[in-house]
Amino acid sequence: MEGAGHCASCHSPLNLIGGEKGSELFNGGIVDGWHAPTLKGMATAANPWTQMQLVAYLRGEVASEHGGAAGPMLPVSLSLAQVPISDVQAIADYLLSLQRTVDGPPAPPCQALKPAAPLASEGAAIFAGACASCHGDGAPMRAVDGRPGLAMTSALQADDPRNLIKTVLEGIPLSTGTSSHYMPAFADSLDDQQLVALAQYLRTQSCAGRPWANLDKTVTTIRSEGEPK
Ligand code: HEC
Ligand code: HEC
Repeated sequence: MEGAGHCASCHSPLNLIGGEKGSELFNGGIVDGWHAPTLKGMATAANPWTQMQLVAYLRGEVASEHGGAAGPMLPVSLSLAQVPISDVQAIADYLLSLQRTVDGPPAPPCQALKPAAPLASEGAAIFAGACASCHGDGAPMRAVDGRPGLAMTSALQADDPRNLIKTVLEGIPLSTGTSSHYMPAFADSLDDQQLVALAQYLRTQSCAGRPWANLDKTVTTIRSEGEPK
């Protein structure tokens, strides 16, 4: 596939000399403090991707059931929005053909907490104050483009809280894409302890049985890694 090497440079683990390990191509990697998830097994993931959702995501639009691109993936998707859609469909077909190669069964689907976590918790209060105007049920933003609730996004379903924390700290910059989406950065308005409470609350809403371990340490580490260069 044309440009796959470019995709692989972020979506693969790096070996000691900085090249991508052949057998681990597309197994996921870390870039600028973000987790670039594995691109294998997307068609059969717990929250599976369809070609239509993947094409929308790759072109910088909002994918129903998944959300939109953030962090280092945002510029990639904005440039893919400039190429003919048939090329992006070909990329999507290629990705959807990649089989999961990691040993062991895939993570079981996330189960939301029912009934939802008490609204009186600190995390719930932070969500209500800082996030719900855009991401809450019934928020006007949700009605546009069929945006999913946060529980459906890869950031909340991932077993690593990194992309949720990075998204909240850095926000999503205003871009020039046709479907530009903007989210403010919260690095200055939420302290580490508030971030932990918020992340715990959101994870419980989306994946109640599998809480993120050592969240406070992870939040402190990610914040100290600093802003992207
Ligand atoms: C500069 C690094 C970088 C490059 C290059 C890159 N990606 Fe990404 N990609 C990321 C990061 C980081 C994320 C996670 C972003 C998020 O969760 O908002 C991501 C997310 C994704 C996702 C969503 C996966 C999921 O499970 O949620 C897909 C699909 C994807 N990239 C495909 C591609 C393709 C195809 C290419 C090449 C055309 C590519 N990426 C190139 C960094 C990169
Ligand atoms: C002004 C509106 C706004 C506010 C307030 C806001 N967001 Fe967002 N957020 C967005 C937009 C726009 C996106 C991009 C995806 C989309 O277009 O649906 C997004 C994306 C996300 C994503 C998905 C990123 C990914 O990697 O796929 C997460 C997680 C998220 N927001 C969490 C939060 C949390 C937590 C808060 C509160 C601390 C918050 N947001 C506040 C507008 C907002």
